Amino acid sequence: MDNDDKKKINGFSRKTKAERRAWLVEYFLQPDQDRELRRFDAADNGLQAVIDNFSENTIANFPMPFGVAPNFLVNGRTYAVPMVIEESSVVAAASAAAKYWMTRGGFHAEVIAAEKLGQLHFRWNGRPERRAALLTDLCTRVRAQTAELTARMEARGGGVRGLTWKHLPEVAPDCYQLLVRFGTADSMGANFINTVLEAYGQELERWAATCPALEADERELEVIMAILSNHTPNCIVKAWVSCPIEAMNIPGSTVDAADFARRFQYAVDIARQDPYRAVTHNKGIMNGVDAVVLATGNDFRAIEAATHAFAAQDGQYRGLSRCRIDHDVFHFELTLPLALGTVGGLTKLHPLANVALDILDRPSAEELMCVMAAAGLAQNFAALRSLVTTGIQKGHMKMHLQNILSSFNATPQERASTQAHFHGKTVSHHGVRAFIEGIRK
Ligand code: MEV
Repeated sequence: MDNDDKKKINGFSRKTKAERRAWLVEYFLQPDQDRELRRFDAADNGLQAVIDNFSENTIANFPMPFGVAPNFLVNGRTYAVPMVIEESSVVAAASAAAKYWMTRGGFHAEVIAAEKLGQLHFRWNGRPERRAALLTDLCTRVRAQTAELTARMEARGGGVRGLTWKHLPEVAPDCYQLLVRFGTADSMGANFINTVLEAYGQELERWAATCPALEADERELEVIMAILSNHTPNCIVKAWVSCPIEAMNIPGSTVDAADFARRFQYAVDIARQDPYRAVTHNKGIMNGVDAVVLATGNDFRAIEAATHAFAAQDGQYRGLSRCRIDHDVFHFELTLPLALGTVGGLTKLHPLANVALDILDRPSAEELMCVMAAAGLAQNFAALRSLVTTGIQKGHMKMHLQNILSSFNATPQERASTQAHFHGKTVSHHGVRAFIEGIRK
């Protein structure tokens, strides 16, 4: 057996965590790295069991910083926004933007729609033009069959909102889709939607076998798959800020307020038109959004996928925010899809997601959409403010220097002299090492 063959394994998931680590140390790691993995175990066994249950084949916990950006005034309420993110300067930037807008009217946000979608794909040997005549019967059947499943969600204000029967001849002449619109109240609703759709699939096959209006050859129906859609263009929130241009001064800067507003608008317009800039622009927005998504136990992959699809909805990828200056008033807004939950799923299971939701005073899903959109807008504002004034590196360099100093376990005195030395200079890992080694001699 060559060395690579030895690394192949069966039954890995059945091993205990200690056995998995031992196996990793044997084939992939250094002996002392087992200690490194163990260092991150929760002291509380119950808590560790909760974390282990989130996923499979776990070998350790992977900590991320959990911070808070205070002073977020959103729709007249003051929030401290919980953020989980590893990128330095994101929380600081959000906090600075929040503080800036707090004295200029704060953020406003509005949920435009909160509907989610699910799809059931199937093959059917019927005539496509018969769909309209058959839909009412089909709807009645699937809804009756799932009444028990949907009753609790209906009591919470959600449920199935409507059903469309589409023909997809570009896939195959017999390819169809039931597109189902859902309300899921304060839950993200993935489980609810998928359960209902799978039940619809079973009932669809029964309906085809028994519906009296169908001809014998039309009874051939095969369900292919049933799953929610992460494209959520009907689950939309808009956040905005505005103030007179003359109030757009930057504290501690000599940049002229009107000049700043003009350059800012220019930058937003570039991202609306140029996809290369738009991707970076939107990445900056998602720095804020994802951090709150993670902190509150929501699904950041779903949010990312939906957002980028939304950004390309007219066929070109565009920046998600817009800016205009109207009668000397600066307006800056962000519209994005956010399918979130504040009950159920990880929001309930992860102890820190629970703390994050407590910090936000247990918001409804719609309230969280508003806060999250404000965080995205704040992040975008902070990034563009730096970009069109001092440049981004000034702020980044401060954090970069702190991170490098941490990697050298610098003492407070070493930190102070290194900061003084690098003030106004370019920070590099190599340069900081040389300086620290110099003062440690
Ligand atoms: C960095 O994480 C985000 C920015 O690149 C966003 C932007 O360019 O707008 C600063």
